[in-house]
Amino acid sequence: MPYVWQDLEMTEKPASISEQNVSQGAPWHQLAWKLGCAGIILLLLSVIGLSVLVISLTQKSPMEKSSVDIQEKRNYTTETPRQLQCPKHWLQLQDKCFTISSSSKTWNDSLADCSQGESSLLLIQDQEELRFIQNLIKNEGNLYWIGLNFTLSEKKWKWINGSLLNHDILKIFGENKENSCAAISKMKVFSEICNSENKWICEKKLKPVRNKVS
Ligand SMILES: *[C@@H]1O[C@H](CO)[C@@H](O)[C@H](O)[C@H]1NC(C)=O
Ligand SMILES: *[C@@H]1O[C@H](CO)[C@@H](O)[C@H](O)[C@H]1NC(C)=O
Ligand SMILES: *[C@@H]1O[C@H](CO)[C@@H](O)[C@H](O)[C@H]1NC(C)=O
Ligand SMILES: *[C@@H]1O[C@H](CO)[C@@H](O)[C@H](O)[C@H]1NC(C)=O
Repeated sequence: MPYVWQDLEMTEKPASISEQNVSQGAPWHQLAWKLGCAGIILLLLSVIGLSVLVISLTQKSPMEKSSVDIQEKRNYTTETPRQLQCPKHWLQLQDKCFTISSSSKTWNDSLADCSQGESSLLLIQDQEELRFIQNLIKNEGNLYWIGLNFTLSEKKWKWINGSLLNHDILKIFGENKENSCAAISKMKVFSEICNSENKWICEKKLKPVRNKVS
């Protein structure tokens, strides 16, 4: 190997010396070295180019990784509705929040009051909810409007979400006649004249806010 390097040095020295050593075929020898050098330079350049590419790729991958991390975190926070809570002073049963008014109004005005707070007059979906609400009521003599009234056209009790009342879930005491609205007490649910003034109960459903995030 050292001889090769000697040879290389020779070619770079002035012609007078190299002429003696490589008297025959000197131009061929020189050309071969030039080609070799060019090859080495090309090789070096491509190695540098490749390493730059590799470095830029390895720098990119942590960024991609972290964006995946963010996505996973985002899914985690948006897909756990258990973390959502009712507003202050509202009571919670499963995924619903409830509040009882302190003033008294007509059924129509109570309906309007609940919808102002992005909630609804109470809809009772099962016996468990009925018991929960009746347990909240302290004063046995009080009546509270719920989201149920008697429709003149169908002659039936109808929830404000459009569904007809299932009489297995709750029984209404009183008359089934026009301008009748339902009010709940600690023990029973009554048919009352819609224009009379009572307190009322609003409900709000807790739901994950997935759309707002993505
Ligand atoms: C997170 O949600 C995105 C789209 O919303 C989905 O492509 C990705 O697979 C989810 N990641 C996990 C860990 O659920
Ligand atoms: C309307 O509310 C009642 C009482 O909670 C419920 O039984 C019924 O399924 C609801 N209907 C719709 C369409 O959500
Ligand atoms: C009963 O409730 C419906 C809404 O569900 C309303 O349009 C209608 O006016 C109410 N009836 C009375 C007598 O207030
Ligand atoms: C409640 O309002 C509806 C229209 O929104 C009306 O038709 C109905 O007569 C009102 N009921 C009472 C008791 O004021």
